[in-house]
Amino acid sequence: MNEFVTYQRRGNVGVITVNNPPVNALSHGVREGLSMGLDQGAADGAAKALLLICDGRTFIAGADIREFGKPMAEPMLPTVLAKLENIAKPVIAAVHGTALGGGLEVTLACHYRCGVASALFGLPEVKLGLLPGSGGTQRTPRLIGVEPALKMITSGDPVPAAKALEQGLIDEVIEGDLLEGALAFAEKVVAEGRPLRKIRDLTEHIEAAKADPELFERNRAALAKRARGNEAPLRCLEAVKAAVELPFDEGIARERQLFMEAMGSAQSAALRHVFFAEREVAKIPDVPKDTPVLPVERGAVIGGGTMGVGIAMNFANAGIPVTLIDTSQEQVDQALATVRKNYASTVSKGRLSQEEMDQRVARITGTTDFGQAAGAQLVIEAVFEDMALKKEIFAKLDRLCPAETILASNTSTLDVDEIAGATARPERVVGMHFFSPANVMRLLEIVRGEKTAKDTIATAMATARRMGKVGVLVGVCHGFAGNRMLYQYTREASFLLEEGALPQQIDKVITDFGMPMGPFAMRDLAGLDISWHVRKARRDQGALHGRYDGTVGDRLCEMERFGQKSGAGYYRYEAGNRAPLNDPLTEEVILKASKELGIARREIGDAEILARCLYPMINEGAKILEEGIALRASDLDIIWINGYGFPAHRGGPMFYGEQVGLDSVHKALLEFEKEHGDLWTPSPLLARLAAEGKGFAEA
Ligand code: 3HC
Ligand code: NAI
Repeated sequence: MNEFVTYQRRGNVGVITVNNPPVNALSHGVREGLSMGLDQGAADGAAKALLLICDGRTFIAGADIREFGKPMAEPMLPTVLAKLENIAKPVIAAVHGTALGGGLEVTLACHYRCGVASALFGLPEVKLGLLPGSGGTQRTPRLIGVEPALKMITSGDPVPAAKALEQGLIDEVIEGDLLEGALAFAEKVVAEGRPLRKIRDLTEHIEAAKADPELFERNRAALAKRARGNEAPLRCLEAVKAAVELPFDEGIARERQLFMEAMGSAQSAALRHVFFAEREVAKIPDVPKDTPVLPVERGAVIGGGTMGVGIAMNFANAGIPVTLIDTSQEQVDQALATVRKNYASTVSKGRLSQEEMDQRVARITGTTDFGQAAGAQLVIEAVFEDMALKKEIFAKLDRLCPAETILASNTSTLDVDEIAGATARPERVVGMHFFSPANVMRLLEIVRGEKTAKDTIATAMATARRMGKVGVLVGVCHGFAGNRMLYQYTREASFLLEEGALPQQIDKVITDFGMPMGPFAMRDLAGLDISWHVRKARRDQGALHGRYDGTVGDRLCEMERFGQKSGAGYYRYEAGNRAPLNDPLTEEVILKASKELGIARREIGDAEILARCLYPMINEGAKILEEGIALRASDLDIIWINGYGFPAHRGGPMFYGEQVGLDSVHKALLEFEKEHGDLWTPSPLLARLAAEGKGFAEA
């Protein structure tokens, strides 16, 4: 047909094969080839049925996302699918790998569907801020029922073949070779004279849904609660509603209209950016894909506290046996008990089987014997944040472990090069900065020291992937990338309190923006006392200069308000309830603090709050890029989405800055600089990009 699609007859069956590596995306050439293949199949009198199958690692994984946002050439997918559905002989889709988005929609325009047991079927468009735009929202409810379709379309999560069969999404699971099995299925369809089953004509599920008038309102309320400002799930619901309320062709037109609306939205642009950013983050220019990855067959974790426990679980979850080492048997026992408690809680929620829990627990061994670390190829240290202690431990590990063993530190603030200096193998030392809770948060900052070897980095990145994490490479500096930006955000939140805002106002602005928690609810959760002690120590060392962001926090701690754990912090809490309640006492403390600082309180608008909290992060991000601490702005977006809950539909802080306009961000920074001083001075990179009208990728 063309370079992407071929046609060949096997017995009574015309086989149309798509080949567009890596994932057979529906690019223009594939759509054109499919259309031509269907014409040929229709015209081939010897073909009593047609089979649609793909070469390579997967069935069609969807529309070609790279074409989005650009003018698209005919034939468009809906046109091809209308032709497919109306062919006068049965067409059967044969699926391996993933049939996703437009790929699944292709199968739904076929008359029958089969696939191997490992195949996955899904409509993930919602994750790109879209909805299925080629009949998926109209045909899926007709085939499997409205509520199951709503779940599939609004969650974007794929279903495995067995479940797809049970739901009626596919007609047969093929054991053994897909092509041979699917040909046999097609011959059976011909031999039995099965009808051309057009999903568009199915009515049973639509009628059932009409009998349940509350269906959409019920689902809308639940979706809106979870969506936190993400428009896509609700747009998906509108499209499915059209399947119930409108005749098929009008439903298709409504779906297309909603799809085009979504395609033009800022949120979809942001989510598409995130899709590519997540793939880009694995690419390190001077550590190419073929860099050797050292085998990690056993891990060790030093320190079984908050972080060590989670890190050991990550090894176990990845199927890697791990030794957890702490100073006393009591600490070790406590750590292992926490491991069991954490897994048991996942089992009780039905998200892990008891058998899988037992296997994972069995992979974690506890000991006080440091010598046991010698059996591991990767040791991750997670002891107290104390440079002298870390150096002592690294020197000891250096003596005990074979020369190839990678020694990683989970430090959040200390200089990885100084730690590496305590060993004779700085090329095997790297930072692996997990985020709390370490077994849950997807982010892992991989900190490259001055002498870290390329295969050490490749191994750390590969281990992150095995653990189900997103590894992001960063350089050595205080706070690395994520926490360095976080500090800007929380500092401004504190200053805003002193200038006129209240915690509940700031937190609301931030959660309305889409973050899961505002900065003050977050502090109450984490506890106010640790940073209070840090500030006290810094004050004693004479290291606190300029405007100080802990005034209100200090006062609250002096009143023993340490956050949720003491029943009050910025908010007050009722026993057994984590919901933050506004507290007039906090307001009193804040008003007093403003007075003492000589600040005349003023009304602060929500827009200013948002800009004050987010723009300094973007400015800090620009400094991080300038210093070469991160490789790309999109890596910072990935850090913030996966480590701090930044809403993906905003694209991450750097992308958000570009959507606002770097010029506008720059101007606002200059205004704030006039008012508040050099904390606000724009980074030279930001100033230059704003002047040149460029984005970060063009820096
Ligand atoms: N369009 C364009 N490129 C795509 C793509 C797509 N739909 N899906 C994957 N790619 C690219 C990736 O960017 C990557 O490129 P790179 O090597 O240059 O970085 C390459 O294909 C391989 O992708 P992965 O690294 O993700 O490979 P995996 O094997 O880990 O995963 C996958 C494969 C499960 C298919 C995963 O790529 C995926 O989930 N893809 C997106 C699927 C999707 O969202 N489809 C819906 C699209 S929207 C749509 O269909 C609209 C329709 O309703 C009209
Ligand atoms: P923690 O205080 O909960 O645990 C530290 C553990 O190390 C304790 O179990 C302690 O007994 C053990 N330990 C101390 N000295 C030891 C030694 N000589 N040998 C073996 N074990 C020893 O501390 P946490 O919170 O787990 O932090 C650990 C590291 O992780 C620190 O470097 C911290 O900066 C970093 N980190 C912490 C995060 C957090 O949110 N808690 C987030 C990211 C990094």
